[in-house]
Amino acid sequence: KDESTVSITVVGASGDLAKKKIFPALFALFYEDCLPKHFTVYGYARSKMTNAELRNMVSKTLTCRIDKRENCSEKMEQFLNRCFYHSGQYDSLDNFMELDTKIKEHEAGRISNRLFYLSIPPNIFIDAVRCASLSASSTNGWTRVIVEKPFGRDSESSAALTRGLKKYLNEDQIFRIDHYLGKELVENLSVLRFSNLVFEPLWSRQYIRNVQLIFSEDFGTEGRGGYFDNYGIIRDIMQNHLLQILALFAMETPVSCDAEDIRNEKVKVLRSMRPLQLENLVVGQYKSHTKGGITYPGYTDDMTVPKDSLTPTFAAAALFIDNARWDGVPFLMKAGKALHTRRAEIRVQFRHVPGNLYNRNIGTDLDQATNELVIKIQPDEAIYLKINNKVPGLGMRLDRSTLNLHYAARYSKEIPDAYERLLLDAIDGERRLFIRSDELDAAWALFTPLLKELEEKKIIPEYYPYGSRGPVGAHYLAARYNVRWGDLGLEQ
Ligand code: BG6
Repeated sequence: KDESTVSITVVGASGDLAKKKIFPALFALFYEDCLPKHFTVYGYARSKMTNAELRNMVSKTLTCRIDKRENCSEKMEQFLNRCFYHSGQYDSLDNFMELDTKIKEHEAGRISNRLFYLSIPPNIFIDAVRCASLSASSTNGWTRVIVEKPFGRDSESSAALTRGLKKYLNEDQIFRIDHYLGKELVENLSVLRFSNLVFEPLWSRQYIRNVQLIFSEDFGTEGRGGYFDNYGIIRDIMQNHLLQILALFAMETPVSCDAEDIRNEKVKVLRSMRPLQLENLVVGQYKSHTKGGITYPGYTDDMTVPKDSLTPTFAAAALFIDNARWDGVPFLMKAGKALHTRRAEIRVQFRHVPGNLYNRNIGTDLDQATNELVIKIQPDEAIYLKINNKVPGLGMRLDRSTLNLHYAARYSKEIPDAYERLLLDAIDGERRLFIRSDELDAAWALFTPLLKELEEKKIIPEYYPYGSRGPVGAHYLAARYNVRWGDLGLEQ
């Protein structure tokens, strides 16, 4: 094993994603001794920069784990010494050839494995892949490419992108990231379901009333308006992050934990779903709001967003899986920017207890007394189950309590960032958490007709103030399916 090398090239090294996520994740892996002995990192971008300048830039992004500070600066130094910069155009075979020469020097005749992370705008994906693959592929080891969304903006453009990539790469060389799959609690979903007897038997239409997938951010699209306006919240969050969680949540038991087995089950869920209908969708856009003397900008106040943009920054949707397990169970999604809180969670609301002996003690709101399982993906990771119990004492009053697995209290270890897990998996060739092309096609098929209709009919979003709970339309949508959003209660 010592005889092989891994060269990781971050294409688009000066971009936001590289600085915020990729370099810090690589360093964290290095710190934890998870990277192979012979690894080298290359930053590739158009601007001229020296190795020292790259190292300086990267060093500002690195942090140490709270629980592990010893040797940190020494480790940083060692990591930075493994980072090199190469300036080049994204569509230049020659420039990638020069990179190849540089990589070869460091490989020093060992087996060559190469990972390219495309952290660049989608319109140059194919050019970069063509050049990387023709000029800088490994000749005796593996070559893999990590791509980030957007994978197109509808079924057609996504298929075109896949065709373009497949001219130069096989499917098993393409690692499509959905970083939500790398989050600790999303990975834990299958463990929760399949290794505890008490959940799986309840995991169906027989016991589950509805499932809610909620994503909310308490900031707007600041600085990303240009990208966002072409995509909107449905493509940015729902079609990928929330839908991926839904697929994992709803899939049948896979044959094994192998990537292909899991992805086979996920794709079946996606293909059993009804394409989303306009009547099952509410869209919103945030407007400016002044609170405590501070004025928060509206979405269209961003210089890079057209003043008359109808792009949704909020959406709520009801989706259905037409299979034996989930027939008739509404899966409600809600995703929004510039809302009152930042959180991502799954809420599972169970049915009423049939012939409940204690209905009299519960009061009039029977819904409030049903069990609810909450998987809090972030922040402050937790899994809790709401149950009914008796208030201690001589009377007979019922109370709502929670059985709570609160990660911070249970585990002192810091939870790794999603990108660490995903980068490590890509290096190890583990594909479980990456999106296969048939999954991607199935995901687009669910949203493409609706996205077209939204644009053609120029549907006007419901405006909501920055920092609010979003459009009231989301409540009407849920009410149509007898659902109340679970994130509106007082509990955290
Ligand atoms: C990205 C979206 O995929 O996920 C962003 O493009 C969003 O709009 C981000 O802010 C949220 O990721 P996280 O990990 O911060 O919840």
